[in-house]
Amino acid sequence: MSTLWHGRFGGDPAEVLMAYTASIGFDVRLAPDDIAGSRAHVRMLGRVGLLSETEVAAVLAALEQAEQELASGEFEFAPGDEDIHTAVERRVTELAGAAGAKLHTGRSRNDQVATDLRLFAKRELASVAADAIALQQVLLERAVSAGGAYLPGYTHLQRAQPVLLAHHLLAHGWALTRDVDRLADARARLDVSPLGAGAVAGSSLPLDPDMAAAELGFAARFENSMDAVSDRDFVAEALFALAMVGVHLSRLGEEIVFWTSEEAGFATLDDAYATGSSMLPQKKNPDIAELARAKAGRLIGNLTGLLATLKGLPLAYNRDLQEDKEPLFDAVEQIRLGLRAMTGLMASIAFHADAMAAAADAPSSAATDLAEHLVVDGMAFRDAHAAVGHLVRRSLEGESALADLVRADPRLGEAAAELLASGAAVTRRTTPGGAGPEPVATQIERFRARLAADAARF
Ligand code: ARG
Repeated sequence: MSTLWHGRFGGDPAEVLMAYTASIGFDVRLAPDDIAGSRAHVRMLGRVGLLSETEVAAVLAALEQAEQELASGEFEFAPGDEDIHTAVERRVTELAGAAGAKLHTGRSRNDQVATDLRLFAKRELASVAADAIALQQVLLERAVSAGGAYLPGYTHLQRAQPVLLAHHLLAHGWALTRDVDRLADARARLDVSPLGAGAVAGSSLPLDPDMAAAELGFAARFENSMDAVSDRDFVAEALFALAMVGVHLSRLGEEIVFWTSEEAGFATLDDAYATGSSMLPQKKNPDIAELARAKAGRLIGNLTGLLATLKGLPLAYNRDLQEDKEPLFDAVEQIRLGLRAMTGLMASIAFHADAMAAAADAPSSAATDLAEHLVVDGMAFRDAHAAVGHLVRRSLEGESALADLVRADPRLGEAAAELLASGAAVTRRTTPGGAGPEPVATQIERFRARLAADAARF
């Protein structure tokens, strides 16, 4: 078996060494980025005079062919191909001969892999942000079409005050706005090229890392070769931003599980976005929502696992750093699927305005409004709270309906009793950012504008 580094070694590597250390099984996903990195590197080598024009052309042609073979699945991996970098270089050398053997001039897999992974992260974080924006778009559409539908807003999972359904949906939408920001922010910070750092210390050859960075579309090149090959902050940041999206999807998922339960009955899933039971013919299960809830745990695991790998690692490159890739690949894939599944689910779910209103119209949901009515008449809020609380208790003890007690109370009376009418309470949430029709109309416009600005970014 031939490895890239066989020169110094007497015999073949042990089979178990290759089995344990090879990363080709997963880093093959970096193939497009590895090819892009090699293209930039070889062009740079040509421009600084380390390769002739003919050699550059031969290597570029070989890279082109390797790229096509990888894309079409015709690429034949050899037993010594430890990782995608080794595999591509071997193939390029087979195809371009002596010129191919010059590809790795002034380069180490240490700066190469860091470059590849940054290119991957840059592209994938943008694509995840676009998927998040698509879910926000659906939340906006559902908020607009929800009109005046309202449901209980819960605290402690106890009915607290009625809120417009649009308000509730957009609460999830705004959380995703922060996610899009975080993805953009992580992406801007990782936009630095490590190519040209070499194994640890740069090179004695006249490399031009700025040229390579510009060729790859990076905003800047590294400042310190040791930092360049050992920094994986960008993976940790990406994993945090992705885990946060996962946590948001889990909270939306939990809401869907509750809304579609027989106990709440606020919504029904479309058949295409629900699953059946193998034993219970009557069941229609919210498995997407439950998995969104569960997968947040796995995403958090990806983040904490990487941080544990990085903790205490000496500078600069250590093979430990190879463990950065699987968590990132997994997180990107899971979030992409989770966002798309949730987008389809939210676009097709049917809301039941009557059931939501019935739950929200419990007279006690307007208790705060009664207290605020007394406040407007000059009573201190603490006294008003006690007075209304007393009426609620009398009604709960069976003395009379709350509306009758309110009507009979000289401090409250008929005008106050009207606050208990169906749908009245939600219309009284008038403050900016509040849950009633007036502020929600403004909020929808602000959300729409924010979404358009974000969509233009990605
Ligand atoms: N597959 C390796 C990684 O993912 C590439 C770098 C190997 N470098 C080395 N010095 N062994 O990190």
